[in-house]
Amino acid sequence: MVSEPALRILGLSGSLRAASFNTALLRTAIAAAPPNLSFEGFDMSQLPYYNTDVDHAGPPPEVIQWRELVRGVDGILIATPEYNHSITGVLKNALDWASRHPRGIAFAGLAGKPVGITGAGGGAGTARAQLHLRQVLAETRSLVMVHPTLMVPLARQKFDESGKLIDETIASQVVDFMVAFAAWVKRIKATA
Ligand SMILES: Cc1cc2nc3c(=O)[nH]c(=O)nc-3n(C[C@H](O)[C@H](O)[C@H](O)COP(=O)(O)O)c2cc1C
Repeated sequence: MVSEPALRILGLSGSLRAASFNTALLRTAIAAAPPNLSFEGFDMSQLPYYNTDVDHAGPPPEVIQWRELVRGVDGILIATPEYNHSITGVLKNALDWASRHPRGIAFAGLAGKPVGITGAGGGAGTARAQLHLRQVLAETRSLVMVHPTLMVPLARQKFDESGKLIDETIASQVVDFMVAFAAWVKRIKATA
């Protein structure tokens, strides 16, 4: 049997919280992913706040590393919390850095990049944050998977204390989402 070449995926949780439901969701999604996806992460909290002056003077090494990572991967999977009906500051800041090139060219590594959006949170399951994230990623010319969507409402009831997903319906949705995401990344890579 000929094995498929691995697709490099950057997995990001928009939460810095140790017991984050979004980080737990990301872990669950990675575990449920088809074997042709290989995952890497990045600690977005080490990035400074975006500042054009700093960028033009010469961005710090963490920013260079972050941009190279974003540019190099075949796709990005994001689990976003909902903060005040939007995404978290740490995620937005990281996307802002990734959306620029050191010489001020906009959209850079995010343009044409396949992205899958998930999220775990309160009653609305991060629906409003996910819509905001789609708006941000439209400006960066990223190719966000349209369907299926994956939202985990009332996350506190869906994960146990160790961060294990205990809801069978959501578990099945995670599998379907990851199969579709793998196909989405593969399709875009084939046309690139
Ligand atoms: C600053 C802040 C704002 C929040 N705003 C919302 C909100 O608008 N809608 C919502 O459903 N939950 C909101 N929450 C609750 C978070 O979605 C919830 O704490 C979630 O578990 C955070 O994700 P995490 O578990 O991955 O850290 C907010 C929490 C914080 C800290």
